[in-house]
Amino acid sequence: MKQQSLFPTPLWTARFNDADQLTRWEDRVMVLKAADPIGVQLTNQGAWHSQTTLLQDPGLHELFGWIAAQVHGALSAWGWDLEQARPRFNNAWAVVSRSGDSHGAHIHPNSLFSGVFYLSAPSGSGAIAFLDPRAGALMLQPPLHREAAAREIGRLRLVPETGLLLLFPAWLWHEVELSSCQDPPAVRKVVARAFDHAGACGEEQCVVTARLSKLTSGSG
Ligand SMILES: [Fe+2]
Repeated sequence: MKQQSLFPTPLWTARFNDADQLTRWEDRVMVLKAADPIGVQLTNQGAWHSQTTLLQDPGLHELFGWIAAQVHGALSAWGWDLEQARPRFNNAWAVVSRSGDSHGAHIHPNSLFSGVFYLSAPSGSGAIAFLDPRAGALMLQPPLHREAAAREIGRLRLVPETGLLLLFPAWLWHEVELSSCQDPPAVRKVVARAFDHAGACGEEQCVVTARLSKLTSGSG
């Protein structure tokens, strides 16, 4: 029989390989952390969570420019007509996790896509886990060979890597498992962001689209 996959859930990945630039962005996040040690409390359990205004930080403009370029390419390849409707960033924040920290399962309401970019991910960094959004699929759990189980088990784990970018639909439930770093100072830093889709150009959307264009051109 011929098999088709209906309603697939995309997960895009990309890698940034300039270690020096990653270190500069990481240093910038640590400056923000030092200036605001309390941060905010959302789904983070123990981890430091920055304010959600990182898009306005000049020290990170090139970072979001690179991310914007990756997003642009992914959505274009997926079939979006970007001449008619362009994505725009909604907000962005940073997280610094240490051993024992985690994030509870959550989605990102009022956004279309969300993503995570790992500025550094030492050994023991908590894995991100994506949860099967198909409630009905959990009713069917036959014995599966290893390869099939990896995609059908209802929970997909990805071990963080320094420089790894993940992009996925904002409605996809995800969580971060406990970090258990062994080597002090065991720190994991994450920049995450969610963004909305901008349709026909209105006043507010024009302002934001201009900002995205600036970021994109700045990244080369
Ligand atoms: Fe998230």
